[in-house]
Amino acid sequence: MEARTLIERKRDGGRIQPAEWRALMIQYAAGDVPDYQMAALAMAIFFVGLDREELGALTNAMLDSGASLDLDHLKMGRVDKHSTGGVGDKVSLVLAPLVAACGVAVPMMSGRGLGHTGGTLDKLEAIPGFRTDLSLAVATRQIEQLGCALIGQTREIAPADRKLYALRDATATVESIPLIAASIMSKKLAEGLTGLVLDVKRGSGAFLPELDRGLELAQTMIALGADHGCPVVALLTAMDRPLGRACGNAIEVEESIAALRGEGPADLMSVTYALGAEMLVLGGAASDRNEARRRMEVAISSGRAARKFQEIIEAQGGNPAVVDDPGLLPQAAECELFVAPRDGVVAQVEPRAIGRGITALGGGRTKVEDTVDPAVGFVITARPGDVVRAGEPLATIFARNEAGVAAGVASLKEAIRIADEADPPLPLISHR
Ligand code: URA
Repeated sequence: MEARTLIERKRDGGRIQPAEWRALMIQYAAGDVPDYQMAALAMAIFFVGLDREELGALTNAMLDSGASLDLDHLKMGRVDKHSTGGVGDKVSLVLAPLVAACGVAVPMMSGRGLGHTGGTLDKLEAIPGFRTDLSLAVATRQIEQLGCALIGQTREIAPADRKLYALRDATATVESIPLIAASIMSKKLAEGLTGLVLDVKRGSGAFLPELDRGLELAQTMIALGADHGCPVVALLTAMDRPLGRACGNAIEVEESIAALRGEGPADLMSVTYALGAEMLVLGGAASDRNEARRRMEVAISSGRAARKFQEIIEAQGGNPAVVDDPGLLPQAAECELFVAPRDGVVAQVEPRAIGRGITALGGGRTKVEDTVDPAVGFVITARPGDVVRAGEPLATIFARNEAGVAAGVASLKEAIRIADEADPPLPLISHR
């Protein structure tokens, strides 16, 4: 297999055969195909695309470059959720224990925050002691015992994707639907799932803001799942404003605990229940979405969902007492209200500006190797469409020091627009 030949063929609109993808990815993971050739191929794919068979073959080649979770012996459905990412999106923290408490195993592999979006691993690591770097063997044992493990992409999983994703990030080839679909699905298929639910975000704060691109990505991943015997259901949900009120790692954990106790904000609960219902049906624990919803409500009202989170935290080295006393989570030194500058209607709470604001406070990353301050962030009570009066609180800033408060004020001024009238926000869940 000559990498140059494959690049040339793809550049000119040709097809790459399954055996060629496999050889290419094995050689790339081993360091025998250099980054400059892979970057050229990624750019050719960006412009020319991949047909369905090639997409399946690339996904398999990345999947087979590493190990997979073997959970076939479990006598229960195994379903994960993947979100294309956003601001205030703490759904995974609520959903994983909730679904596991309802009898479906959740082998959940998540990522870190980068750019304006937050990451589930950073949120979990705000819990003192919590470890997300479990080996596949340890994660498997935990899933057998508790029905859930919350881990990061280990070195064992899809190493060719790990290398290629970093390369795409540096070569402006991330926003290619076939490359995104193959990247996400190679990791999800390595979890040994019997079903997958996708939360594809749309709106200004989404990775792919436009509706048609979100739909195309969803349909591509549904087809890829079908070709691999893994049923996939996708919901398109709004990311033209943050989800819930808390935006920042520790305060999002606190809001997730409230949600597991039945005290979560309405939008967070709606998205969680909608995704959870799909997971319970796919996992065989409910015959339809209405029954699934009832089961989740009982898991929350009985305290089972919160207890499941406590068990997971304890198993992964964290302090389980945070579930009863969120005051044990990291606390910011400074806490300041941000108020409405005038009378009017909240016309916009712009997620990208909020995400950049969290980074300005020290709670996000601009480079993969950055460390994050778990305690900082915003609790934003203003929702698009709210009528407000000058001086009324819109948000609370949690910062490390006075300079952080000033950065937070500047970000909220940019993010929250008060006007005389406002367009309606996007529907919270627009497509299934
Ligand atoms: N997330 C991934 O894991 N891969 C992509 O290509 C994009 C988002």
